[in-house]
Amino acid sequence: NQKLQRYRPNLHFTAKRNWLNDPNGLVYFKGEYHLFFQYNPHDNVWGSMHWGHAVSKDMITWEELDIALYPDEHGTIFSGSAVVDWNNTTGFFPEEPGLVAIFTHHKDRNGENPPKQSQSLAYSSDNGRTWIKYKGNPVLFHKTKVDFRDPKVFWNMKTSKWIMSLATGQTITFYSSLNLIDWQFESEFGENIGSHDGVWECPDLFKLKVESTGEEKWVLLVSIGDNGISETGSCTQYFVGDFDGSVFKAEHDDIRWLDHGRDNYAGVSFSDIPEEDGRRIYLGWMSNWRYANEVPTEGWRNQMTIPRKLQLRKIEGKYIVIQHPVAELDTYFERSRDIHDLEINNSETIVFEVNEAYLELFMNILNSDADQFGITLNHTQTHSTTIEYDASNDVITLNREKSGKVEFSEMFSLEKRLKMDNSKNVQLRVIVDTFSIEVFVNDGTYAITSLVYPDQTCETVAFYSESGKITVENGYISTPNKRFT
Ligand code: FRU
Repeated sequence: NQKLQRYRPNLHFTAKRNWLNDPNGLVYFKGEYHLFFQYNPHDNVWGSMHWGHAVSKDMITWEELDIALYPDEHGTIFSGSAVVDWNNTTGFFPEEPGLVAIFTHHKDRNGENPPKQSQSLAYSSDNGRTWIKYKGNPVLFHKTKVDFRDPKVFWNMKTSKWIMSLATGQTITFYSSLNLIDWQFESEFGENIGSHDGVWECPDLFKLKVESTGEEKWVLLVSIGDNGISETGSCTQYFVGDFDGSVFKAEHDDIRWLDHGRDNYAGVSFSDIPEEDGRRIYLGWMSNWRYANEVPTEGWRNQMTIPRKLQLRKIEGKYIVIQHPVAELDTYFERSRDIHDLEINNSETIVFEVNEAYLELFMNILNSDADQFGITLNHTQTHSTTIEYDASNDVITLNREKSGKVEFSEMFSLEKRLKMDNSKNVQLRVIVDTFSIEVFVNDGTYAITSLVYPDQTCETVAFYSESGKITVENGYISTPNKRFT
């Protein structure tokens, strides 16, 4: 039995102590999901990057293990990925397949070689518990590029080669290799497309199934660093297109955002999910570089999002990445209230007591004629967060101005707006945990991921409507499964 925590996330990974940022080396191997992460063991702010390590059987409850990768003569350890070398392409595994981590070594440059950021390898023959750095490190560097980092590697069946996506300034460069050691340039993507409001970071290229048709497309995720975009800060864009083993071509010019909140950055997907499972599972760092170093927690700082299953949905001719929390999350909840045909009249508010350390809300809302309706999460008597739908503009707004501690950052209090495609009916699924709210709109079409720092998670939930009537046709409130209380 696990005790519920009121001052720590229950469903989201945090390090026991100190600072974390990007998820790294997400890989499934022998029944375990591995989560490595950018980690500073010495302090509660960014610096001296290591790879922390945790394992899980279900991606929700994690066991933190010893640090996997320490800085060395080539520098500190920045973001990267991990793969299973099933066929011993590296020669590291004469006996049994093992794990290879492909990561960035970062060294502050004093005009000498090797350059500031280079790619290196480490391998493990004991399920990721201990790691040996490859003696020929680094395996990939560049004479002039300063931003040259965050390698994400996968095995491309079609060409029988490893493919690396690498963040190279404001482009993504693809390299290929037969052995993870010798890398060849393939192509560079991104010059005249997408958002260029900051340096490009943490790419991930993978195939995704189109919901219901089974058709496949390639998706490229790209996080936008520095200060990110003006209203949002750090954020992640994605491109949908085709990859022929060498070149990625996007099939659209518009900019598409993976998340409409401020707190989902540097996310990437798991490698080596078994074929019979078939999911593409993603998780992100639940923070924003604009305030990540200041968020008001003590002894530990920052957390990961709930892992999400990604799929593509064709909406008005466009392929949109949709996301749902992984089904493993369901076992942490039990329904405490079912809602059927609940009418909420003009200016009415209906309040449900909750008072739990975490909860889930789900509702299909039919809007007859209301201008605005929404949900207020009353964390305490004085702390609340509102998710409001403005029917005349098709805008969903998340407002956390009064959600608790907000003074640490000016941007934190600003509303976050999401412009939707025209829809009279709205479906909301909201996961509320200590310090976070994740909203999934219209069956995963949009996600809004937000941190909040109230004094407690949630006392009551209020549904309201303004200038008109809405009907919650069906829905539920779920609270912690008793086995966790
Ligand atoms: C993204 C990032 C990566 C880098 C890492 C350093 O958040 O800036 O590009 O590898 O963090 O911690």
